[in-house]
Amino acid sequence: MAASTQPDVMDKLVSLCKRRGFIFQSSEIYGGTGSVWDYGPLGVELKKNLKDAWWRSMVRLRDDVVGLDAAILMHPRVWEASGHVAGFTDPLVDCKTCKGRFRADKLEDARCLQKPSKRPGEAEQCQLTEPRLFNLMFKTFMGPVEESAATVYLRPETAQGIFVNFLNVQQSTRQKVPFGIAQIGKAFRNEITPGNFIFRTREFEQMEMQFFVEPGSDMEWFEYWKSERMKWHQSLGLASDRLHYHQHEGSELAHYARAAFDIEFDFGGSLGFQEIEGIHNRGDFDLGRHQEYSSKKLEYFDQPNNKRYLPYVIETSVGADRSTLAALVNAYREESVPGEEEGRTVLALHPTLAPVKAAVFALTKKDGMPEMARKIAADLRQHFPVDYDETGSIGKRYRRQDEVGTPFCVTVDGESVNDGTVTVRDRDTLKQDRVAATALRGYLEERLGE
Ligand code: GAP
Repeated sequence: MAASTQPDVMDKLVSLCKRRGFIFQSSEIYGGTGSVWDYGPLGVELKKNLKDAWWRSMVRLRDDVVGLDAAILMHPRVWEASGHVAGFTDPLVDCKTCKGRFRADKLEDARCLQKPSKRPGEAEQCQLTEPRLFNLMFKTFMGPVEESAATVYLRPETAQGIFVNFLNVQQSTRQKVPFGIAQIGKAFRNEITPGNFIFRTREFEQMEMQFFVEPGSDMEWFEYWKSERMKWHQSLGLASDRLHYHQHEGSELAHYARAAFDIEFDFGGSLGFQEIEGIHNRGDFDLGRHQEYSSKKLEYFDQPNNKRYLPYVIETSVGADRSTLAALVNAYREESVPGEEEGRTVLALHPTLAPVKAAVFALTKKDGMPEMARKIAADLRQHFPVDYDETGSIGKRYRRQDEVGTPFCVTVDGESVNDGTVTVRDRDTLKQDRVAATALRGYLEERLGE
């Protein structure tokens, strides 16, 4: 589903992200690595804020979800048990003429490399091969010998680290079902058709939570998490009319899923509504398979009721990079400014996500203004990320901060040095308040929700 009423801002965003140090192409000086991206100084703060917000809401604020950080490399049998060795494949076709490689099930979304107005196979000269299955897992070797017995995989999802540690975590924390395990970590997929900036990449981060429940109560918990996760996206400012659910039906359902909904965000332009998070009822598929393949009992003992069972799992799985892209797309605006000829580009990021919370300016570089402004910046920096800027016109400095989403700009002027007050300008309303420097931290923290 790609229909969208939102404008396409992707090209502008890619350029802004590079220019201002949010996101760079990996190994750019060597011509770049296909669909791998590096986060620059502002990007790393933005993504970290997003991951921290997820961790806080999923782990810190709950007593029924605990955290985990499992390794990327796992025993190769894990991926046989999980079904990824046999089934984590996409059908691939090659074109012998243009040398393009396409997903056979997504040909309608692809373009012929020689005739971009046509789909692969549509132009006369196209010579498509028969589809063949291509496994998306990256392989490598453990130890010095490159032989098949030493093959290991870079994990294609973080979830399996949680399943294989289910009993370790349950027994060490004495959690009782229902409870969840959450983790944030890298995952790798050798995608055939990656693209759209950081939307689909070969190396990315997932924020996943597996909630273990008694069979029979699974659909109730599924509905609960479906609703909680939608509220989380809204709480970070994603516009409600750009979010909806998409239900998986029939062949869309993954091999492990009893029920599945995606939360989709409208990325605008031709991309339109696309998945940012999956909520799945995985039943006892994973624990059952790991029990079978490892020959280790993974049953939970329900002491009060004196019964053993394999819990069912409700999974919430969201991409940190894809959510970062959604936050950027959602925040990007080009506006005219009343009374000014030049418009502005603004990232109206939620304050929790903004990489810099406040910028402090000295109106001019004289009369004690820089000294006072630097002291204010240093004091505030103890509490949240702050930028200091004394170069260029005040208008230009505002524009620079608007473009990277800084919620507040604080200006020290001639009056400040005499009466100890400063001007605080709000990024979104453009309203300016005069605030005592001694009250500044409280004023900003209240508005930033710190
Ligand atoms: N454990 C379940 C699982 O991995 P998924 O729907 O394949 O489910 C979950 O992935 C989320 O991970 C997606 O909603 C998306 O946000 C993110 N994701 C998946 N593949 C990605 C890729 N190639 N690049 C960026 N993010 C990706």
